[in-house]
Amino acid sequence: MEKKKALIIGASRGLGLALAKEFLARNWSVMGTVRKESGTALHDLSQNSSDQLQVEVLDITSMDQILSLKYRLQGQKFDLLFVNAGTGTYETTITITTDEFVRVMVTNALSPMRVVETLESNVVEGGTIGVMSSGQGSVADNERGDFEVYRASKAALNTLMRSFAAKHPEDSRAMLLISPGWIRTKLGGPNATYSIEEAIPRVVDTIVAQAGKVGLQYLDQFGKVVRW
Ligand SMILES: NC(=O)c1ccc[n+]([C@@H]2O[C@H](COP(=O)([O-])OP(=O)(O)OC[C@H]3O[C@@H](n4cnc5c(N)ncnc54)[C@H](OP(=O)(O)O)[C@@H]3O)[C@@H](O)[C@H]2O)c1
Repeated sequence: MEKKKALIIGASRGLGLALAKEFLARNWSVMGTVRKESGTALHDLSQNSSDQLQVEVLDITSMDQILSLKYRLQGQKFDLLFVNAGTGTYETTITITTDEFVRVMVTNALSPMRVVETLESNVVEGGTIGVMSSGQGSVADNERGDFEVYRASKAALNTLMRSFAAKHPEDSRAMLLISPGWIRTKLGGPNATYSIEEAIPRVVDTIVAQAGKVGLQYLDQFGKVVRW
């Protein structure tokens, strides 16, 4: 049987690298993107993975780079497109500079959607288009108010993805916003609840379990619905 194929955007380290490893372990073919031409952990992994893992270069904030990846992917189809890349900030609306606010919003909300809009035609019918959101993107669950700029960026991402889904009502693909949980990475910090090893297999279980389920869902690592 032919291997399933995943395209994981932002797989140099942290959760994206772990997603790539988990799909490889489940015998999928993986194409992962990184910002650097060489020297990332994904490049190291690709040296031991024969042709099961391919590495491509993409900074999601560059429309030119998105379009050149699209060009390189001509004729290629994936069962899963998953945009993981994202950035964090502890700043508030008072402390953040305007440039930094724009950088966070462009990285977390605008750019993932530009990737989805540009590469969605490379996802097979009945496939899955997923984006890494966060529980902090939930407006309904925002009872503490902390990390307000990061929250706003993920809430914007959720709204943009919801518009994408609403504009494709006849689409046969599953669409996902994933809230992976608070996980110990550079972004999550050392005090986070979950290790990567605990959370990512559950995230992948959740992603693969949605195959064939048409429409947009906002789910946590356990497959539980997150309130908008
Ligand atoms: N960890 C958590 O607790 C947690 C919770 C909820 C949601 N998330 C989300 O999960 C995703 C991954 O987070 P993480 O914890 O793994 O963070 P991380 O360790 O800081 O990794 C961030 C990843 O995003 C990539 N990236 C950042 N900006 C990019 C850009 N402009 N173009 C392409 N790639 C870019 C980074 O690439 P470089 O190596 O090139 O910098 C890196 O691969 C993010 O979307 C984050 O918001 C994380």
